[in-house]
Amino acid sequence: MALTEQSLVTIDDLSTGEIEAIFSLADEMSAAATTPDQGRSRQVGKLCRGKIMASLFFEPSTRTRLSFEAAMYRLGGSVITTMDIGATSLAKGESLADMARIIGSYADIIVIRHPWEGAAKVVADYSGVPVINAGDGGHQHPTQTLLDLYTIRKERQTIKGLKIALWGDLKYGRTIHSLIFALAKFGANILFCPSPGLEVPEHILQKLVTEYGGDVERLAPPKQTNKERLFPLDAVYTTPTNPHQLAMIPDVGLAVELKTGVDALYVTRPQKERFTTAENEELEKKYLVVDKKLLEDKAFRKTLVMHPLPRIDELAYDLDTDPRSQYFKQAAHGVPVRMALLALLLGAENTAVPRNNSKQVGIDYPVYRQDLDLKCPNTRCVSIQKTETKYLKPEFKIVNRDPLTLRCTYCEHGFEPQYIASSNWHEGKLSDKKYHRADSHWARIIKDENLIVFASAAEAESQGFKPSHYTGGRH
Ligand code: NCD
Repeated sequence: MALTEQSLVTIDDLSTGEIEAIFSLADEMSAAATTPDQGRSRQVGKLCRGKIMASLFFEPSTRTRLSFEAAMYRLGGSVITTMDIGATSLAKGESLADMARIIGSYADIIVIRHPWEGAAKVVADYSGVPVINAGDGGHQHPTQTLLDLYTIRKERQTIKGLKIALWGDLKYGRTIHSLIFALAKFGANILFCPSPGLEVPEHILQKLVTEYGGDVERLAPPKQTNKERLFPLDAVYTTPTNPHQLAMIPDVGLAVELKTGVDALYVTRPQKERFTTAENEELEKKYLVVDKKLLEDKAFRKTLVMHPLPRIDELAYDLDTDPRSQYFKQAAHGVPVRMALLALLLGAENTAVPRNNSKQVGIDYPVYRQDLDLKCPNTRCVSIQKTETKYLKPEFKIVNRDPLTLRCTYCEHGFEPQYIASSNWHEGKLSDKKYHRADSHWARIIKDENLIVFASAAEAESQGFKPSHYTGGRH
């Protein structure tokens, strides 16, 4: 099937049909584990015989690494592993591309976790073997999403039309970022419940609406009633396949949203390792806790309580024996789901992809790849790290013209640049070599192939451009 030899860098790499195929095979893998001596089980234990998985974990991990490694062993394959940048030549200044090329010649598949956003894409671009992103900074964690969806589907039989609340650190949580797009792909509705200061990045909401359709409706800041304080709903995503209340009920609010019940509450911990120093003190103090008391409300009578784990203080231990809690089961699903994924990417299994193989996001954005000094503004992006700039050229998709918005091809961070120009200024007439504010009408006029984007006015001037009338206020 089409998955053979593919990489999984973001959840967009998989269609709904491919995800369904992974789930069907994961069901078989679970069944094989419970009847180890029967025919199919013995076969499963040999599926990846002779194959080697490189497991590279450059950030802490318990569940993801160990379930990937257990999955490979259960398929009869072998594992080579490293868990510390300090123990590899990356510490000597080797680039990810060089490391990828080398490991690609030792292993048949690479699983990588790395603090730089876009790192897994670089490894996939250079290794020559399938690469699985096991978490790249705060960007994405697509295999966690697979087991999250698998858990929901097992409990509810479907994902379509469900109402899923995402709770906690929606800003830095990579599991959240992958899950948002996957839920939209399957037609679920989303309630965004961030801890104060940790709202979903704007560029993620924009992508959700422009590429998956549907609406994001923002709620007025809470009125500080007890319920609103305890359940910090700040935005609602409504799937286009489920034209709901939003259009009909002008008063979108907590009470309305909770009335029909919440199907799952997905809790996350504060991703402290990604907080800025200023955020560190502030945000942790305000972090909201999910406990039995919160879930007494009738909206949560049947709610699946989920968490990618590890938990810190945000999910009370009093919920562990509650039948609604799914998080330990969720983690256990990591093995069969990852077994299925490894077997498919390595071509050891050939499950047919169901017909509903709707390839999600189909927008073919123009690419901005000028050889100038524009860098991705995200300090964690792989494309701006010293070891990588020697060979990586910054590359952006032009995802909007009004306002002009670029999206980094590596970390997918979206941003609105400040200044622009056209490379097609009147020939020979240097006085026409002008730059403009990116929020002027020029942003809509300059053709893709002529567009030049500057990080600052100083940079435009250093390239010999003069300010136009349109470098003042908004025009
Ligand atoms: C998550 C991760 O690493 O992003 N953990 C996991 O893989 N289960 C969540 C987290 O660390 O908070």
